[in-house]
Amino acid sequence: MAKKLFIRTYGCQMNVYDSGRMADVLAPLGYTVADTPDAADMVIINTCHIREHASEKVYSELGRLRMLKLAKAEQGQDLVIAVAGCVAQAEGEEILARAPYVDIVLGPQTYHRLPEMVARAARAGATGGGVLDTDFPAEPKFDQLPDAVAHGPSAFVSVQEGCDKFCTYCVVPYTRGAEYSRPAASVLDEARRLVEGGVVELTLLGQNVNGYHGDGPDGRGWSLGRLIRAVAELPGLQRIRYTTSHPRDMDDELIAAHGEVDKLMPFLHLPVQSGSDRILAAMNRQHGAADYLRLIERLRKARPDLALSSDFIVGFPGETDADFEATRQLIREVGFAQAYSFKYSSRPGTPASAMEAHLSEAVKEARLTDLHHLIGGQAVAFNQTCVGRSLDVLLERRGRHDGQLIGRSPYMQSVFVSAPESMMNTVQRLTVVAAHANSLAAVLAEERACA
Ligand code: 5AD
Ligand code: SF4
Repeated sequence: MAKKLFIRTYGCQMNVYDSGRMADVLAPLGYTVADTPDAADMVIINTCHIREHASEKVYSELGRLRMLKLAKAEQGQDLVIAVAGCVAQAEGEEILARAPYVDIVLGPQTYHRLPEMVARAARAGATGGGVLDTDFPAEPKFDQLPDAVAHGPSAFVSVQEGCDKFCTYCVVPYTRGAEYSRPAASVLDEARRLVEGGVVELTLLGQNVNGYHGDGPDGRGWSLGRLIRAVAELPGLQRIRYTTSHPRDMDDELIAAHGEVDKLMPFLHLPVQSGSDRILAAMNRQHGAADYLRLIERLRKARPDLALSSDFIVGFPGETDADFEATRQLIREVGFAQAYSFKYSSRPGTPASAMEAHLSEAVKEARLTDLHHLIGGQAVAFNQTCVGRSLDVLLERRGRHDGQLIGRSPYMQSVFVSAPESMMNTVQRLTVVAAHANSLAAVLAEERACA
């Protein structure tokens, strides 16, 4: 029977990937994707636990869904409510206790079992009692999932999950578990199928993606650099990206790939979190500011036009004005094309939450605003360097105006252009005519490009 599924996704790109895979898993049960919760028979909230603000959204969203479930029940319709992702993993029991109308709670490692959970929830029916599955199963979910389906020209492929780094502020090692690398053959199979389905850009995903160490088809352990070279051999594939990386795992092979693999895009998101050695040590990042700067120098030597992005946490416990100034200094030295900054958020169970000298909200807010200005200024400056240049842009969405398409430059900028619909899902060479804070405006270049 045809049924409708609505998935709301919070958090990182891994969650975006997981949401897509949950839709793939439910497709054989007759579920197709709905645009709104109102139109759905089942709603999944795929949650993020990384900061308090992200976690809090779960309960307000659930409150709204409860009303919708009641309204549907009055019309004799059912609404299955599922909570997935990292909040589900961390607080599964609590969710079922606080929101007993939730039918299914599942962690990031068990969504291959969703059909079974849906059947169990249907059996439980009106008698209540939600289904909870937040195991870390022995059988990796990737072996159990149906083939990934291509939607559009760009796709994610999960290559690595979990994290063993234990940065002192971070919940990921607890919610996503220990590092696991998918065998290279399984990644290559999925990548090949996606490319055959029309995908021209692949983003290799992992919580700690450059820590990838999967079994290679040659019986050896493959690094991410090796994997990228193999993926690059897929005919028809034009672009490769990867995210998110840790500076400690940026090895020679990966740095060399940036200089040698044409399909690897000149953009790297490499979180550093702070520019203060004292804070980096308290965060257990296992490197100092100078190590990061040296790494950037080596990367830029391999690929001179590499655009850089990063994550910063402001107001980590004990962060002084001098520590914060060190972060500003690092940002000035690197010059980022874009970057994200966050106020430190104390997460239950993490070592940092038990540290002394938590900072006031006002100090965190002031430092956040300061970094937004600094980073925003760098982003505008970077965008301005692109004016007058020709860039290859993957056109992947319609714009708000008639005849307008939006795409991504090699450097991850959003680019707007007036172009025929026939150019959708293709890479086109565009000439940039104007730079804005978060995007570029371009026109079609005379010379059409790209393999
Ligand atoms: N507080 C604030 N920011 C955090 N991040 C991770 N944990 C926290 C936390 N407790 C940020 C880091 C990471 C990004 C995904 O989220 O900057 O790189
Ligand atoms: Fe969290 Fe650190 Fe692992 Fe990144 S490297 S997921 S910040 S513990």
